[in-house]
Amino acid sequence: MSAPRPQPDQIAAAATALTAGRLVALPTETVYGLAADAANDAAVAAVFAAKGRPSFNPLIVHVLDRAMAERCADFDPVSARLADAFWPGPLTLVLPRRAHCPLSLLVSAGLNTVAVRAPAHPLARALLQRFGGPIAAPSANRSGHVSPTRLAHALDELGDAIAVGLDGGPCRAGLESTIVAVRPDHVALLRPGPIGAAEIAAVAGLPVRAPESSDRVEAPGQLASHYAPRARLRLNAVRPESGEAFLAFGPAPATDGPVLNLSPGGDLREAAANLFAHLRALDTEAAAIAVMPIPEEGLGVAINDRLRRAAAPRPEQPS
Ligand code: TXA
Ligand code: MG
Repeated sequence: MSAPRPQPDQIAAAATALTAGRLVALPTETVYGLAADAANDAAVAAVFAAKGRPSFNPLIVHVLDRAMAERCADFDPVSARLADAFWPGPLTLVLPRRAHCPLSLLVSAGLNTVAVRAPAHPLARALLQRFGGPIAAPSANRSGHVSPTRLAHALDELGDAIAVGLDGGPCRAGLESTIVAVRPDHVALLRPGPIGAAEIAAVAGLPVRAPESSDRVEAPGQLASHYAPRARLRLNAVRPESGEAFLAFGPAPATDGPVLNLSPGGDLREAAANLFAHLRALDTEAAAIAVMPIPEEGLGVAINDRLRRAAAPRPEQPS
């Protein structure tokens, strides 16, 4: 995996596209985003249209640093500490929109909050620096589908909508950012991700809890069915049945059909980085995918969260 270096011409072209209200495929350390000028209503509306995303599902706004975030959102002291500890990196904070916030109201989808994060990927940072303002970017996939961890995934699904595709190589983390909202007496974990609950609790000095039902309204993206390939998923499988592709983890039984291993050595970081690319690859091989058990510890919590949503009964998706 070669370290992507900022390509000045590409960064300039991407910044120009954003300024013109067009969309950019943006590499981050988690997954690729479909990026728009977060202050431009028409551009943000184009992101919803391209993804087929329900208009009640708000977008994440990417910033260079806390100073840029503070132009858009009010930080409480605990959120400020979390930003200083984990940014740039895969932590998204849900915060109140600031008075006279320059962001399009569409990024918040009618809520009075905004989700912000400072990505660590050098190309994302180079673009934020060059563009000079906040960039709205949900994952660059059709709504409800598997997130892209390669530029080619984003171009396959949304190529028609993308003016400039920045190639930052395969995403290092491979799972979307951890999303939290700080409450007076705890931190609500709205989406598990690469940064674990224990790390967050240690910095916040508060317990980290699963969202309460009142939080769920705040996180409509936490829909039961999400991150889904076309194929049906069968979780905690020991081996594939006839006609199933096999997504293995760790030492795996020999099988006849299509098989990919998330990490033959049982490494959860490697498994997280491979998850979405392997799901996409097996999706072209069979109508069902059997998935071996993943331990519910460390990054396994976030991996299992995505797998459960991918396996959940889903509404009919437009093709
Ligand atoms: O790693 C990531 O977070 C990637 C990369 C591109 O940064 N982005 C990403 O965005 O996963 P998206 O739009 O696919 O997921 C954003 C999630 C959704 O579940 C959405 O509901 C939630 O963030 N969200 C956004 N704004 C929110 C808000 N104001 N309150 C609660 N949840 C919010
Ligand atoms: Mg997404």
